[in-house]
Amino acid sequence: MRHLLSTRDLRRDEAVRILDIAEDMADVQNREVKKLPTLRGKTVVNLFFEDSTRTRISFEAAAKRLSADVINFSAKGSSVSKGESLKDTAQTLAAMGADGVVIRHHASGAPQVLAQSDWIDAGVVNAGDGTHEHPTQALLDAFTMRRRLHGTASRGRALDGVRVVIVGDILHSRVARSNLWLLETLGAELTFVAPATLVPVGAETWPASVGFDLDAALAEVRPDVLMMLRIQSERMHAAYFPNAREYARQWGLDDERMAALRPDTIVMHPGPMNRGLEISSGAADSAQSTVLEQVANGVSIRMAVLYLLLSGEREALS
Ligand code: CP
Repeated sequence: MRHLLSTRDLRRDEAVRILDIAEDMADVQNREVKKLPTLRGKTVVNLFFEDSTRTRISFEAAAKRLSADVINFSAKGSSVSKGESLKDTAQTLAAMGADGVVIRHHASGAPQVLAQSDWIDAGVVNAGDGTHEHPTQALLDAFTMRRRLHGTASRGRALDGVRVVIVGDILHSRVARSNLWLLETLGAELTFVAPATLVPVGAETWPASVGFDLDAALAEVRPDVLMMLRIQSERMHAAYFPNAREYARQWGLDDERMAALRPDTIVMHPGPMNRGLEISSGAADSAQSTVLEQVANGVSIRMAVLYLLLSGEREALS
């Protein structure tokens, strides 16, 4: 694997391998081995043109736990605000000797442009581009599902037949798109639920069911996994959005809907959460919620991805 730009590009065996290596990484961390020497001498640049808490910090933690040097670049406070282009920024980083670039950008396709350019000779990881994809989020989501559903017997397994309902702002969600392709590859059965104005044109061709009534979908699917998406108000320029109270009543996971779920349904959210809008505090903080597990698992997944992109052999882990 040279770059990770999209889950759509991943074959099933590649996706399962990433999840298995993340299990190895989690095992190593659980043995309180703080650092592996695997990426000693490599430099990872975190290139963030959009805000982030979880993704940026977990990529930094992942790289450091593999002994890489890390350079954090944030567009705010950089020469990007003086008009410097992606090309000039990338070439500046190349001059500093970057082996891997983790990029988050507001423009869909920016990581692909970087990967296909001759501006920099580094492995590129998409950490979220516009409304397009957020592949490591989908991988950590799949890893979390697999661990919760299969426990210690997770290794080597996919998610065949697992019923997943994803609810909310599908129109603007790169998390939804990366989950769509990865869950299909791993054999899960996916249903999206959203207000009609937050479903993109073309969703009818996706390998997923699309519905508009959350209570009907929950009663019909009785999901193993219920994932609530953040309402992306910063991208809600032209889309019609029902008012917050109406949204919470019709599409939010409130305490009443939470109580009606199967007791073993897991509740996911990629974060950051709008508590009281797409998810109640009762649901977010319940024992069925995996919100903080997702954050912890994100470090293991990002260690696995950096390891595959930047090192040689998996045996280095043993
Ligand atoms: N889930 C996610 O991408 O969170 P951040 O925006 O905080 O990185």
